[in-house]
Amino acid sequence: MTTADQQPRVTMEEITALAKRRGFIFGSSEIYGGIGGFFDYGPLGAILKRNVKNAWWREMVELRDDVVGFDSSIVMHPNTWVASGHVAAFHDKLVDCRNCKHRFRADHLPSLEKCPDCGMTGTLTEPRNFNLMMQTAIGPMEDSASRAYLRPETAQGIFVNFKNIYQSARKRPPFGVAQIGKSFRNEITPGNFTFRQREFEQAELEYFVPDDGNDLRWYAEWVAARKKWYSDYGVREERLRFYELSDSERPHYAKAGTDVEYLFPWGWGELESIAHRGTYDLDAHMKLSGKDLTYFDEATKSKYVPILIESSAGMDRTTLTMLIDAYASEEIADESGKVSSRIVLRFHPKIAPVQAGVFPLARNKPDLVERARAIERDLRSTVRTQYDEGNVGQLYRRQDEIGTPYCIMIDFQTLEDGMVTVRDRDSMSQDRVSAAQLRAYLAERL
Ligand code: GAP
Repeated sequence: MTTADQQPRVTMEEITALAKRRGFIFGSSEIYGGIGGFFDYGPLGAILKRNVKNAWWREMVELRDDVVGFDSSIVMHPNTWVASGHVAAFHDKLVDCRNCKHRFRADHLPSLEKCPDCGMTGTLTEPRNFNLMMQTAIGPMEDSASRAYLRPETAQGIFVNFKNIYQSARKRPPFGVAQIGKSFRNEITPGNFTFRQREFEQAELEYFVPDDGNDLRWYAEWVAARKKWYSDYGVREERLRFYELSDSERPHYAKAGTDVEYLFPWGWGELESIAHRGTYDLDAHMKLSGKDLTYFDEATKSKYVPILIESSAGMDRTTLTMLIDAYASEEIADESGKVSSRIVLRFHPKIAPVQAGVFPLARNKPDLVERARAIERDLRSTVRTQYDEGNVGQLYRRQDEIGTPYCIMIDFQTLEDGMVTVRDRDSMSQDRVSAAQLRAYLAERL
């Protein structure tokens, strides 16, 4: 059951069309026919995604004194993935059709009797394990000694560096390490636009706590902090759920786990997983590497392996969520009562790629153009601006479609009295504001 607020107001066809038309997201290497599971962010999409990542980094690292940042390499020593369990167990079960040669995830098939694509019975192979890690070869020889993997998660870079980090940053549990970076998984069935990709970006926080009985409290605090983050950046509460994993849904070493899910047009999909992972990860690396990754507490002269609380969010999925959640198509009436429709992205002002559009009322009047350009340049240092010119109706439509919260129109009156018109994206109301006050006016609202 979905409530009225949860009903999708947009289809994925509308989102992908808008993403392409306005330069948010394109399929990778389209001129060669594309490549499944890979995407490129256009001029506006690159800013949108960067804003999402900056919002995460700001809250998770910069505004806290108990979290430090990190940036590890994508290719790591292959033993990393032996210790982490990815070599042995990062598998999907795969089934091939001997007739049409199509390949499926076994858990996506209603039965193993009949191929869902060509309809033949008895043509599907037995399920086989398919490792999702992408391989590459290091150096000029392509033998097994040079085989390496593109990381399937960023977290392991933090675990293997645990000692380097706490010693150099002089941190004592409870403290966290945060990283945003690319990860790669050879997904059998990439799809739903950027939801399931083969190359994607993760934002991961690994929070190390002492074994003093407060671990579940820390876990609950992180679930609450992440709930607040989505709410602060405007994701609708009624389309977000925090799904608590049952004992049988969690790995054996995990004491608790929550999946953050968003109601996409095709149904609920995971944005993030938050987990209490015990000492599993550090233990595994200590065992295989033979190196000591315990924390030595100078105050108590004791050493211990800290317990780990992890929050692992997908930045592409979060960016897609922002696009879908912001989307509205609505009928509007002008002063004469004439009704037309507009598409508007109601981005949170901190996330919006452009925060203020600045236009001259007429593009063939050098005085207006010059004044508009000067105002736009002046705002640039504090606001993400865009100068544009053309038909007024089209200018507003374009800015609505890219989610610009404020549009500033410079008209003939401006040249006389220094006042400009500021239009609000959501209410479409207009204010006359002194150009000298613009910066303060926008600062208050953005
Ligand atoms: N270190 C824990 C970890 O990687 P995960 O649940 O496998 O956990 C975390 O991944 C997040 O990474 C997911 O919630 C999702 O947002 C993102 N993610 C995972 N696979 C993805 C894919 N194929 N395409 C896009 N995002 C993906």
